[in-house]
Amino acid sequence: MVTLLKIRQEFVEKLGEIYDPEEAKTLSQIAVEAVTGWNRMQQNIQLQTALDKEVLNALYDILQTLQAGKPIQHILGHAPFYNMDFKVNQHTLIPRPETEELVEMILADHEGQKNLKVVDIGTGTGCIAISLQKHLSNATTTALDVSSGALEIARENAQRLEAKIDFRCLDILEWELSFGEGKFDIIVSNPPYITQSEMRDMHQNVLQHEPHTALFVPEEAPLLFYDYIADFALSHLAPDGTLYFEINQYLAEETKALMLKKGFSTAEIYSDINNVPRMLKAAL
Ligand SMILES: C[S@@+](CC[C@H](N)C(=O)[O-])C[C@H]1O[C@@H](n2cnc3c(N)ncnc32)[C@H](O)[C@@H]1O
Repeated sequence: MVTLLKIRQEFVEKLGEIYDPEEAKTLSQIAVEAVTGWNRMQQNIQLQTALDKEVLNALYDILQTLQAGKPIQHILGHAPFYNMDFKVNQHTLIPRPETEELVEMILADHEGQKNLKVVDIGTGTGCIAISLQKHLSNATTTALDVSSGALEIARENAQRLEAKIDFRCLDILEWELSFGEGKFDIIVSNPPYITQSEMRDMHQNVLQHEPHTALFVPEEAPLLFYDYIADFALSHLAPDGTLYFEINQYLAEETKALMLKKGFSTAEIYSDINNVPRMLKAAL
């Protein structure tokens, strides 16, 4: 007889090489919830319940794939973000909790405002654009990405979550060729910002399974995307508009200095819940 408690212990034990015990425990809970439908509280009550063969087989399949380094979100095909479920695959970055804080900040800044024009640069799964479009009143949202594979998923997510977004496949490094005159009240981006040297400290499952175009920048130009997006914002931000970035924690001051050098009148760094400098807000 294999109980829920036993299988959860097995997850922690077998995943010990890749994940720390707390992460492994969370993964076991996510897997059990996906297979049985029991949320974490229900699982705590069912710890001594014997699992039937079908459930066990499904859990062992997930465990094996996790041991091979595949992220749980890719195994299940979706990830939570801002109380919604987003489809993910090999073309999209898995939405991160830190990015929810960026969305939270934008929504708090614009509470009660209507008819805002928003653009999300490097949309991936569409998580930022869709969350903003769902929570801002009557906004017009554009979202772009250079990856057609990511855009396909973003479109699917928007349709399923009933968010009307204008998706465009374009390279922000060539925005001058592809963007018209329109002005935006909110320009937001979580662009690629990890340098090659930071790659060394990264989890193998991120390196092997998440798209490198979503993550990495050249060592010699770590602020490449901030540079181009700042120029884009200088010509496409409405006079009272705001530019929001998720930033590389190790380059926060440099990113701020770049914004001020470009001519923004304010540029402020904000820390996330773990007290890590994570967001930057700039205005003209
Ligand atoms: C860090 S991911 C962010 C994804 C999503 N916004 C999120 O927060 O989860 C960066 C995104 O930028 C896109 N990207 C990379 N280079 C780009 C470029 N030159 N122009 C437009 N998008 C680009 C990637 O495909 C990826 O989806």
